[in-house]
Amino acid sequence: MRNPKILVLEKDESLADQVRGVAAELRPRPEVVAVDRATGVEDAVNADGPFDVMIAGPSMSTKNGLSALQAIHDETPATSLVLAFAKRPDASLREIIRTGAMDLLQLPVADKSLHDAVERAVAMSRSQPTSSAGAPHHLAAPIAHLGTVFTVSSATGGCGKTFYATNLAYYLHQYTGKRTCIIDLDLQFGEVSTALRLRPRFTISDILSRDDIDEVNLADHIDEYVVTHDSGVTVLPAPKDPSDADRIHPADVQRVIEAARAKFDYVIVDTPAALTEIVLAAFDLSNQLYVMATLDLPSVRHMGVFLNTLEKLKISSDNVKLILNKAERDVGLDVAQVTRLFPQGFTSVLPYAKEVTKSVNVGTPVLAFAPTSEVSRRMAAGMSPLLPEASRGKALEAEGPTKRSLMARILRRTPSAATAIS
Ligand SMILES: Nc1ncnc2c1ncn2[C@@H]1O[C@H](COP(=O)(O)OP(=O)(O)O)[C@@H](O)[C@H]1O
Ligand SMILES: [Mg+2]
Repeated sequence: MRNPKILVLEKDESLADQVRGVAAELRPRPEVVAVDRATGVEDAVNADGPFDVMIAGPSMSTKNGLSALQAIHDETPATSLVLAFAKRPDASLREIIRTGAMDLLQLPVADKSLHDAVERAVAMSRSQPTSSAGAPHHLAAPIAHLGTVFTVSSATGGCGKTFYATNLAYYLHQYTGKRTCIIDLDLQFGEVSTALRLRPRFTISDILSRDDIDEVNLADHIDEYVVTHDSGVTVLPAPKDPSDADRIHPADVQRVIEAARAKFDYVIVDTPAALTEIVLAAFDLSNQLYVMATLDLPSVRHMGVFLNTLEKLKISSDNVKLILNKAERDVGLDVAQVTRLFPQGFTSVLPYAKEVTKSVNVGTPVLAFAPTSEVSRRMAAGMSPLLPEASRGKALEAEGPTKRSLMARILRRTPSAATAIS
């Protein structure tokens, strides 16, 4: 395979110089070509292309710059586009997404972060079915060191996002033993730590207010800011003060998620009930989205609007799963009616269950608190396809005739769960 090629598009040479510096450390060593304006790209491609990666600098962060990038990316879709901007561009997230960029770096960027981003972008470009090199490559598997990101969202409040996110994290960790972290992006009123009865020392605000934030690789420090639940699941909590939420921008959220997925095997993102730019920033880095609704007309209607919006934003519906929660009989709307409205179907339909309230009151996911309850069994059935083959047997065993062994294990856990509460 030939050496990768990187095109740097920026007025100022210093970005290309930094890219050359980090490229020297990569194997195979990429060749770096620089152009100072968008109109130079075509000549560069003809003379030196095709390129595996294009890195666009801050002079492209204007609306015009972004639409030029979109046009370039449409012409050369196999080239991974990375945006390296000094500040959040004065454009909507939608305009940024439309450029097709796979990564957004904030300048000044530490060499280590740039190195990782370039490495990832080269790998992504080479995993395309027909890469810019013209020959098919067989690197389609996800890049080994990145964890899987799940984001749980809904259009209306109280749908059970926090409930589902905490249980999903518990389930994945319980049956795979892999490192799992919940990021609470309900920045104003996040309740993951409350739902798990945790007393966090630090929150997402603390990691983002480090003095050396622009120099460090956050992945090396995220462990210092998470709090660990008795089950082994870790949580990066929402700010303690709701007014701190305003200081957190989409680019910050992406840095945190990137750091988390570099460090954890599973990252579960809990969100507020809205399609804010923060939530869209999380979607951008998610492998799987959950959209939740409860069994009532406003919630179901807004789920429809939410899904239409995702479609307009070109978020692939392949990665969206729907969950209907708090299903009850005789409420004037039945599950069959709702299912007809969403032909893609629901991954799980969960009943309204008292065990959920009880489990929240003791800070234990309902899957651990009442594993044999209907709500737990239904939830586990929807989650089991996420497990790697090797872990599935263990989970099935827990759902099947040997339920008691899981119960026994959980009961043995209870005393320490109680200490976590105190
Ligand atoms: N299936 C369920 N049965 C009973 N109560 C539920 C169920 N799902 C969620 N709840 C409760 O509903 C409330 C809202 O759930 P929560 O997860 O906080 O929603 P969101 O995060 O979407 O706002 C919580 O008190 C939670 O315990
Ligand atoms: Mg919530």
